[in-house]
Amino acid sequence: MNTLIQTAIQMMNKARAPYSNYKVGAAVETVDGKIIGGCNVENSSYSISNCAERTALFTAVAEGYSQFKSMAVATENGGSPCGACRQVIWELCGDIPIYICNENGLVNETSSGALLPNPFDESKLK
Ligand code: THU
Repeated sequence: MNTLIQTAIQMMNKARAPYSNYKVGAAVETVDGKIIGGCNVENSSYSISNCAERTALFTAVAEGYSQFKSMAVATENGGSPCGACRQVIWELCGDIPIYICNENGLVNETSSGALLPNPFDESKLK
């Protein structure tokens, strides 16, 4: 199993998910090979909870990275990124491979472009 997928799976253990009990781990790989993880962080005011994918990407940006080449997402049942995360992944990463995993490893390889057809992005604002 590669390090990106391993990191996403390990990040499930860091999830703060007392309300849904649905632990999500994510990991993003920068173009220079650095791997940064994230997990979901829930709040009693449910709607302000943060998804694992966005935690990973926002952490990476805060650490100074801005170019990404792949992402892995791990859940107990191989769930795919939610709509909000698809938009953020597209905005920050463009079209990159997305590895959908469960606790045992890869279950499906897709891409941010396939997950968000006809995206809204900066090209519409010019
Ligand atoms: N969740 C993620 O972390 N990523 C997704 O793409 C889907 C949903 C989290 C949010 C919430 O903490 C839990 O999973 C149940 O929705």
